[in-house]
Amino acid sequence: MKERIKELLTREPDERIISVEGWVRTKRDSKNVCFLELNDGSTIKGLQVVIDKSSFNNESQLAAVTTGAAVICTGKLVASQGGAQAVELALTSLEIAGTCPSDYPLQKKRHTIEFLREIAYLRPRTNLIGAVMRVRSTLAYAIHRFFQENGFVYVNTPLITTSDCEGAGETFQVTTLDLENVPRYEDGKVDYAQDFFGKKASLTVSGQLEGESYALALKNIYTFGPTFRAENSNTTRHLAEFWMVEPEMAFCDLELDEEVAESFLKYIFKYVLDHCPEEMAFFDQFVLKGNIETLEHVINTPFARMTYTQAIKELEAVNDQFDFPVHWGSDIQTEHEKYLTEVVCKRPVIVTDYPKEIKAFYMKMNEDGRTVRGMDVLVPRLGEIIGGSEREADYDKLLGRINELGLRPEDYWWYLETRRFGSVAHSGFGLGFERAVQYVTGVANIRDVIPFPRYVKSADF
Ligand code: 4AD
Ligand code: MG
Repeated sequence: MKERIKELLTREPDERIISVEGWVRTKRDSKNVCFLELNDGSTIKGLQVVIDKSSFNNESQLAAVTTGAAVICTGKLVASQGGAQAVELALTSLEIAGTCPSDYPLQKKRHTIEFLREIAYLRPRTNLIGAVMRVRSTLAYAIHRFFQENGFVYVNTPLITTSDCEGAGETFQVTTLDLENVPRYEDGKVDYAQDFFGKKASLTVSGQLEGESYALALKNIYTFGPTFRAENSNTTRHLAEFWMVEPEMAFCDLELDEEVAESFLKYIFKYVLDHCPEEMAFFDQFVLKGNIETLEHVINTPFARMTYTQAIKELEAVNDQFDFPVHWGSDIQTEHEKYLTEVVCKRPVIVTDYPKEIKAFYMKMNEDGRTVRGMDVLVPRLGEIIGGSEREADYDKLLGRINELGLRPEDYWWYLETRRFGSVAHSGFGLGFERAVQYVTGVANIRDVIPFPRYVKSADF
């Protein structure tokens, strides 16, 4: 493999002739010397390329080296005269792989993050998005490492499904029917027998149901893949297409599930701090001051725990502060999540045992008949980062909940069958991958931590 600027910057100067590929970030030209800053996406800092015009006198070639151009620079790594870097490349020859005209949108100046979103196909060439994407990649690797090191099997659950996991109806339909001419029965209902799959299908909102059936065979599994939700939520933490990590563990109750969630988050945060020091320092300086310290605190402090009922007590005491005052039974919204974690606990908190009415059908019912064994992990600044639960392992109780909620048992027939054949306590959770990237980088809007964000009224590029 060819050398990357990241490694070159830490090398001692030597006599070897090397070639470095990258894109020109800036060019400073004077009478005798020309400086280029070359970036190849491996690091924030570029490599300074020095062109001594007394020996390099190809003026027309030099003129074509503009901001944004793709170039291959050949020369020797020498000790830098300037103070900003240890080494620089003393150029002997230059190849211009791709020129870049002056209407290149990323000229040297500060661009707003909103503007960068409009040029999502170019924004990875900025320091910010480049750093976010390297951290995103490292975080994905850390996730696989955590589970692989702990004996979890990576399972790929389908993206096209005929069962709505969360039962919330927020699905994108998948069809090849001609929407101008939909086949219908006499009573007006759509004839899905003529559709591609012979029945109504949609993009998955979660791989959990399929994941459960694999946990009931392989014991500990995890999924990590795209997830789709047609939620009409125009917020800084919702996407219509996002990535979710869903471990599922058999012979596992909610308490163990909470423990795994806590050690998992701590592991992946620490992994990024250890392996992306340059990027993390950059975010700390330019995106969110104090971010590293906050993460270190999170890694070194036990998460708080409280039940939903306790949480509601805390919130009710300050109901006048909220846009949406709460009472027992109401959903906990972002403002409440932030209060619980930032003000009450001052660290991440795991809230458990929610009213059954506000959680999905598959959660295990508590003895009280009113609450279920669900948990949400809330973190300061962001609120919910993980949602999980112990699953209802009892066939009759599960069927009862499906009916109670007006869902169609025939849509979940195979899922119900898993409760007949060697059913056992099992639990799992889902981590929103982009929320995790948001959290570690400090980036405020979820649209800036995924390459091409999809959200309400927006699926460009
Ligand atoms: O809480 P949720 O809906 O839980 C589930 O889907 C379960 N099936 C998970 C499980 O138990 N296996 O979603 C899990 C997490 C949330 O905590 C949040 O971090 C993220 O997924 N998430 C979203 N992230 C971005 N955009 C959205 N629209 C999201 N909806 C959920
Ligand atoms: Mg949730």
